[in-house]
Amino acid sequence: ARIALIGVPTDIGAGTRGTGMGPDALRVARLGEAIAQLAGPVLDLGNLAGPANPQRPRDGGGFRHLDECVQWNQGVHDAVHAQLQAGRMPVMLGGDHSLAIGSISAVARHCRAAGKQLRVVWLDAHADFNTASISPTGNIHGMPVACLCGHGPAELTGLAGHVPALAPADIRQIGIRSVDEEEKRMVNELGVEVFDMRFIDETGMRATLQQALRGLEDPGIHLHLSFDVDFLDPEIAPGTGTTVRGGPTYREAQLCMEMIADTGRLGSLDIVELNPALDVRNQTAGLVVDLVESLFGKSTLVRNRGT
Ligand code: ARG
Ligand code: MN
Ligand code: MN
Ligand code: MN
Repeated sequence: ARIALIGVPTDIGAGTRGTGMGPDALRVARLGEAIAQLAGPVLDLGNLAGPANPQRPRDGGGFRHLDECVQWNQGVHDAVHAQLQAGRMPVMLGGDHSLAIGSISAVARHCRAAGKQLRVVWLDAHADFNTASISPTGNIHGMPVACLCGHGPAELTGLAGHVPALAPADIRQIGIRSVDEEEKRMVNELGVEVFDMRFIDETGMRATLQQALRGLEDPGIHLHLSFDVDFLDPEIAPGTGTTVRGGPTYREAQLCMEMIADTGRLGSLDIVELNPALDVRNQTAGLVVDLVESLFGKSTLVRNRGT
């Protein structure tokens, strides 16, 4: 198989419980079968194991569940790295967005060893750029981008064997519409390219993606997509814990996935923050499967790449 599904059934980094059921909701919506139809054999590795959610308040360092989050992410890192070494595209079935620390660290390690350049596209309502000292919640799902850029506890920033795992210049964030006050300063100081909802409103999804995906013609690039389900407008995607009004529509999200597919560079994928406890008859999981089909090249007509 060229593609491996890795379930990460945790809600350790989130404020609302329930994303631990995300992997099975995606399986019930037949995610693996949909990908296989478009991209060939898919190996479902089942779910990783990790510590239960102790539902503790923030600790003195400003984190909720730091030790448990480190344990989950070590497991994610090792599983993702093993699949990349085996030549497969790892697809993470989350789980809350803190798992991206482990998955992207593994991808960064793999790319560094293989002499490939890594580009991360981050689809999200949030920038996830908090540190423990500025986070309003202490929830680590609000911190993965900061950790990957080297701002966070050593146990999380060092998973790639190289700090930082990722340079801000290698990230493109799309769909952002909720950034905490001090988090805004982080984003600005580090100079991450953010295509927020205002930019998408003014520019349109097509031109936004053309700009965000610039440079991906180079075949030496590995594209990692980190897809937080709360990227989508809550009217179409209610099954997630930190919804923010005013997100991309069904059509805009489809175009976004189609344009990413057209690059031909997708090498790894996180699907995170799906919360079946908040969903309506698994509709958000079904929507995610529709979008992932586009991401793996489903199109209405026969098309030539890039047209
Ligand atoms: N910025 C808020 C926080 O730090 C929300 C983060 C939401 N993150 C997510 N991956 N859904 O708590
Ligand atoms: Mn490779
Ligand atoms: Mn989010
Ligand atoms: Mn997120």
